[in-house]
Amino acid sequence: MVLGIETTCDETGASVVTQDEEGRGRILSNEVLSQIAQHAAYGGVVPEIAARAHVESLDLLVARALDRAGCKLKDIDAVAVAAGPGLIGGVMVGLTAAKALALVAGKPLIAVNHLEAHALTARMTDRIAFPFLLLLVSGGHTQLLAVRGVGDYVRLGTTIDDAIGEAFDKTAKMLGLPYPGGPHVEKEAAQGDPARFDLPRPMLARQKPDFSLSGLKTAIRIEAEKLVPLSHTDVSDLCAGFQAAIVDVVVDRTRTALRGFRAAAGQAPTALVVAGGVAANEGIRRGLRRLAAEAGLKLVAPPHELCADNGAMIAWAGLERLSLGMIDDLTVAARPRWPLDRLAEPSPTGKA
Ligand code: KG4
Ligand code: ZN
Repeated sequence: MVLGIETTCDETGASVVTQDEEGRGRILSNEVLSQIAQHAAYGGVVPEIAARAHVESLDLLVARALDRAGCKLKDIDAVAVAAGPGLIGGVMVGLTAAKALALVAGKPLIAVNHLEAHALTARMTDRIAFPFLLLLVSGGHTQLLAVRGVGDYVRLGTTIDDAIGEAFDKTAKMLGLPYPGGPHVEKEAAQGDPARFDLPRPMLARQKPDFSLSGLKTAIRIEAEKLVPLSHTDVSDLCAGFQAAIVDVVVDRTRTALRGFRAAAGQAPTALVVAGGVAANEGIRRGLRRLAAEAGLKLVAPPHELCADNGAMIAWAGLERLSLGMIDDLTVAARPRWPLDRLAEPSPTGKA
């Protein structure tokens, strides 16, 4: 039984997760407090506000997570915490709290990479075996990874400019939709005509499965500027066009990564996994389901609440690490940047 703590961005999370006899994860509690309301007025996450909000709510959330799980601090086997990558102030709040809890309880501390936690969530929910192909799509990250084992990743592709979630958020902002934009763009897209605007599909058919999204974002801005003031139909049609372009790009880039998978992992993938906040998008899931069927693979997409940032994914990654004896000491530092594939070049924007 592991306590997991998440404070890398704008969600404070605390959770207790255990493993059943078959090795499947059982979430005993998963307390998440979103700070969206506090950042909404600024149209994005403000690091200082985030760090302060984590300080204010983390103690309470940890107490509630233990309580709902029906256990005390002394009952847990380890304290896992996201030690990065993310906003350094928030990461330090979580890491400091986790160190104190581990020290008081006399239990091991496990410093988890937030991206690894997204990556391993599908093993908690579906028990899939290594190696698998992971499309990791969130507000800060867009990567295709061969996941060969715990702590063993090969990055096949990344974004050379914006992350997909960021492109959703910027598009929403341009069209006057609230922050965070992803869910709002998806909702508008459902009512719109995806074919009204002729929008680019950047990087389509490129040999390396990288992404580039700034051209699409610019194309949306140009179309929107031509139409000002925008009607509701204009907004829905632009959202539908944007999402359709994203789905085409995601499917094409993922298909390319599948082709290169065997060379990176030595065998075919056991599954195609999508994770991170953007994985909640049904259009993207549908596109990936089609691709997986075409490739004779299963698509594993965790439930929405486990795609967004949460403490359960940190606790699960902690359980996986604990079972391999991968624990950390109390001197471990917060890491604002922490690539999963240490050998991969940092992306030009540092967003990979
Ligand atoms: O993983 P996450 O919760 O936080 C980060 O680590 O970034 O991802 C948040 C991102 C935001 O950019 C948000 O707009 C996007 O995920 N997102 C979506 C949807 N739900 C959340 N993007 C597209 N469609 C959605 N339904
Ligand atoms: Zn995340």
